[in-house]
Amino acid sequence: MVELGGNGLPQISKGLEGVYVTSSSISKVNGQEGKLYYRGFSIESLSENSNFEEVVYLLINGSLPSKPQLDEITAQLSDNRDLPDGIIKIIKELSGKGHPMDILRTAVSALSSYDKEVSDTSPAANMNKSLRIISKMSSIVAATGRFVSGKEYIAPDKSLDYVENFLYMLNGERPSAEQADIMRNMFILHAEHSTNASTFGTLVAGSTLADIYSAITAGISVLKGPLHGGADEAALRMMREIGDPENTESYIESALEGKKKIMGFGHRVYKAYDPRAKIIKKYLVKYQNGQFDELRKLASIALRAEKLMIDKLGASRGIWPNVDFFAGPVYLAAGIPPELFTPIFATSRSAGWCAHMLDYWKDNKLFRPLEWYTGSIDLEYIPIEKRQ
Ligand code: CMC
Repeated sequence: MVELGGNGLPQISKGLEGVYVTSSSISKVNGQEGKLYYRGFSIESLSENSNFEEVVYLLINGSLPSKPQLDEITAQLSDNRDLPDGIIKIIKELSGKGHPMDILRTAVSALSSYDKEVSDTSPAANMNKSLRIISKMSSIVAATGRFVSGKEYIAPDKSLDYVENFLYMLNGERPSAEQADIMRNMFILHAEHSTNASTFGTLVAGSTLADIYSAITAGISVLKGPLHGGADEAALRMMREIGDPENTESYIESALEGKKKIMGFGHRVYKAYDPRAKIIKKYLVKYQNGQFDELRKLASIALRAEKLMIDKLGASRGIWPNVDFFAGPVYLAAGIPPELFTPIFATSRSAGWCAHMLDYWKDNKLFRPLEWYTGSIDLEYIPIEKRQ
């Protein structure tokens, strides 16, 4: 029974703002202090010390792995990187037509048809499928990057770690230590963020007991929008539009006057500086004085925009830079083209989505919220020839 207020109306929380929909020990976002923990470990400590395979293990299993456990998950994530020929064909066919996020969504959905365990709902099968998805998503994104730039597919190299292999499949050569370090960080920082929009989308689909491919496909769909994961590409587009660092302040001022949102700022939960943005910002501070002209300009634009936005909206409105603001120039520095930013976010976040899904299924409950009806009832049906 839903209790109605004194005005006879229910309390409606638009966008589920302030509503708890479930509980978990997977990650903690402390929005007031700007802190993030995966299974109790601060994002700073993981960024400093860990790698993506270990973070996947941590998120899914709840604790850091022993050496044999880490070796095992590393091998599983490596052994599952191959893509079925049919999936490679789908990616090739769509490349150059759809956005890589659309291609990723379609390819992950299609992967279910190649998985013999798709309908096996045992925890062991769901764990196997999760690792397959996390593994194959990086190959799908790399293959898309190849085809979009008119190059051929490169098969995975199982001797490389997850992040190095992704860069190898994308670029056709082993990454430099700096590229690998940037991307190790980006994969760790994006891996999990509590029950946000895309994780919620994943859980809603999975709560119907649809299979995990359906759930992750839903997560990808939800992540795509510029209010969520798509903000990284949109923020870079804005920086390129600004063009010259000297234009930064006038551009932002006039955008704000026109009531436009500045992509990469603001967050439903963080009312302080997003700790992930702080980690990424370190790279930009370095690039600001670097050699490569475009990167130097973008870094300077990003840092000037950050200062202005904080002065105008930081403490006064609680609108601070989020993870997506500085991501674009940093991805560019690692050789990643803009249209792959959000697909990479999705690939990394598949770890968090799978961790939440596996956890939620232990005590599943169908998501079925209510809607307050504001229309008419019992209207008279008038045949079409008599309607005005
Ligand atoms: N630039 C300018 N004003 C903003 C911004 C922004 N980026 N974000 C929020 N505001 C203003 C907004 O205009 C509104 O003002 P007013 O009260 O005068 O109408 C007020 O702040 C509240 O905004 P809201 O959109 O209703 O608040 P929300 O809690 O729904 O917003 C948000 C969260 C992320 C959708 C929003 O901050 C936003 O659209 N940011 C830009 C997109 C973005 O960077 N998204 C990535 C989020 S982090 C990565 C992830 O986890 O997905």
